[in-house]
Parts: sequence; C-alpha cells; structure tokens
Amino acid sequence: MRRKLAAGNWKMNGLGANLAEIGKLTKLHRTPVCDIMIAPPATIITSALVEAGDHALAIGGQDCHAATSGAHTGDISAEMLRDAGAGYVILGHSERRADHGETDEVVRAKTEAAHAAGLVAVVCVGETLHHRQTNSTLHVVGTQLAESLPNGVSGANTVVAYEPVWAIGTGEVATLDQIAEVHDFIRAELKTRFGDEADAIRVLYGGSVKPTNAAEIFAVSNVDGALVGGASLKAEDFSGIIAALETA
Ligand code: PGA
Repeated sequence: MRRKLAAGNWKMNGLGANLAEIGKLTKLHRTPVCDIMIAPPATIITSALVEAGDHALAIGGQDCHAATSGAHTGDISAEMLRDAGAGYVILGHSERRADHGETDEVVRAKTEAAHAAGLVAVVCVGETLHHRQTNSTLHVVGTQLAESLPNGVSGANTVVAYEPVWAIGTGEVATLDQIAEVHDFIRAELKTRFGDEADAIRVLYGGSVKPTNAAEIFAVSNVDGALVGGASLKAEDFSGIIAALETA
C-alpha cells in the first residue's frame, strides 16, 4: 500500500510571522496516518523545521538547480535544500515551467540532482486549457512524464503530481472523471516504464483542492493525496484536507 501524502506548496507566500501555521498544524495532527509535507519559501525552511519540532511533518523546497554548486547567482542546489533539512523538493511546477521556461529536460536534470542529494522529488505534470480543449491531455501528460522522469525513479525517491494548469489557483477543479482518467493513465505509463516499482510511486492531484472537495477527489482511483497551494497556507484549511485524506 502506498502511504498517502498531503503536500502543501506555499509558493511565494510566507514570512516568519506565518510559521505559526506550521505549529498549529502539528498540534491539529499529532500522530498523522498519512505523510504531510509543506514547501515554504526557501528563506524559512530552517525556521519551519524548528517550528515543526519533533513532529513527523516534512519540509520541502519548491525548486532546485540541476548543478550541485557553482556560479549560478540566486539559485539553490538540491544539496543545499538537504543541508537545510528539507526532505522533499517540488520540481517542474507549471509556474516554473511558465515563468522560467523550464523544459522537461531541465526538470529531468533537476530530478536527478534531487535524487543524488537524497531528496524526494515531487515532479509536476499537467495540461493547459488549450491542451484539454484540443484533446491532447494524455499526449501532453505522457510526454512530460516520459521526459521529466529520469531512470532510477522509485516510490522512495519520487512522487508524481498531476496538476491541470487551468485548475491551479482558479477555483476550477477537474471533474472526478477527468482526474480518474489521467491518474489511471499515469499509473499505466509508470508501470510500462518502471515495472512493479510503479505500484510504490504516489500520484497526487493538484488544482484548487479544498477541505470541501478533498474527500471526493481522494475517493478516485490512483489518487494518493494532493498537492495543495492556496488551501495549505492556513492550518485549519490544510487540516481539513489532511483529515479527508486520513479517512479516504
Ligand atoms: P492551488 O495550487 O491549490 O492554489 O490551486 C496548487 C498548486 O499549484 O500546487
């Protein structure tokens, strides 16, 4: 059985004052029966870990550079995230792909760097509204998967997040049928490439997941948790999603 994962992506939100939300969350879920991860901005990773104390909650980065070190002003390596105490890193988020022109090739190199540093890579894939409207969703997601995931992917070092771009931050959620179709497709693609190991790889849904819609999404086949943006910023909201996942 795959252990479920509730992952929060704070994006470019979060100052020291917001760390209290992490403290609140650990108190609301003292002994969670799923994995919980929060990816705050890199500037507060260390203090987020202090706030989490000895709680099992994991902290992640939101991106890393493909190189270990060197002349890359402003960038952060996977090894640096690991050194700061992070256990995960989100890679290939659609906002990185759009804002920074990240290609599948770049995402694959970053994923290899994350693996080498001992981080769990949360690799994001997903179609735009244009792709969806032109019936190319599975083709696009299949290509992203094939080209963003390196060899050596395992359930222990990689999580896949399916995030339809048009559902991110819009309040518009994919239908349960759309989610089921893509998640089943991703599982099948992973099986073809990675064999039995595919059964251990968690596949998350992301895109306007809220406490109010989480339970029905988590009931869909091959949905092993969620990657949550807006609703991960407040402990009460994220807690509702975690509670839904724990009972799914
Ligand atoms: P959202 O973001 O939950 O605010 O839609 C999801 C994400 O971008 O990971």
